[in-house]
Amino acid sequence: MKINSRNLVNAAAKAREGSVSPYSKFKVGAALLTAAGEISTGANVESASYGLTCCAERVALFGALTAGKRDFVAIAVVARCEGGPMPCGACRQLLAEYAPDAKVFVADSGDVKKIREFTVKELLPKAFVIVP
Ligand code: THU
Repeated sequence: MKINSRNLVNAAAKAREGSVSPYSKFKVGAALLTAAGEISTGANVESASYGLTCCAERVALFGALTAGKRDFVAIAVVARCEGGPMPCGACRQLLAEYAPDAKVFVADSGDVKKIREFTVKELLPKAFVIVP
């Protein structure tokens, strides 16, 4: 399947506009793509109890999973930072569990045409998983 990274990054950039980040003011958007070509998006949501904050990647992933979506082939993450935002460790763990074969595209919202590409496996090698 040919993945249109530009399209997915654009979806993440649009989702970023929904960021609720009154504390850090760091807006992040994410867009997940399934093998069927469906896109699910999310943005980071922060709490006054800072540790409750949820990253854009997990908001997108939880929304997609609870909508019954599976077989994720890629995720794009966009924020205003040089080279684009690298997913945090917690998000890498969730991606390793629910999107192990996905490509990860990151881009700076100020320069969305410059897309860096990784794999979930390279971002979290030897991930903890429980085989049911
Ligand atoms: N954040 C994300 O949403 N995704 C990342 O990949 C890195 C960090 C959010 C969490 C918090 O709302 C803000 O960015 C600053 O850490």
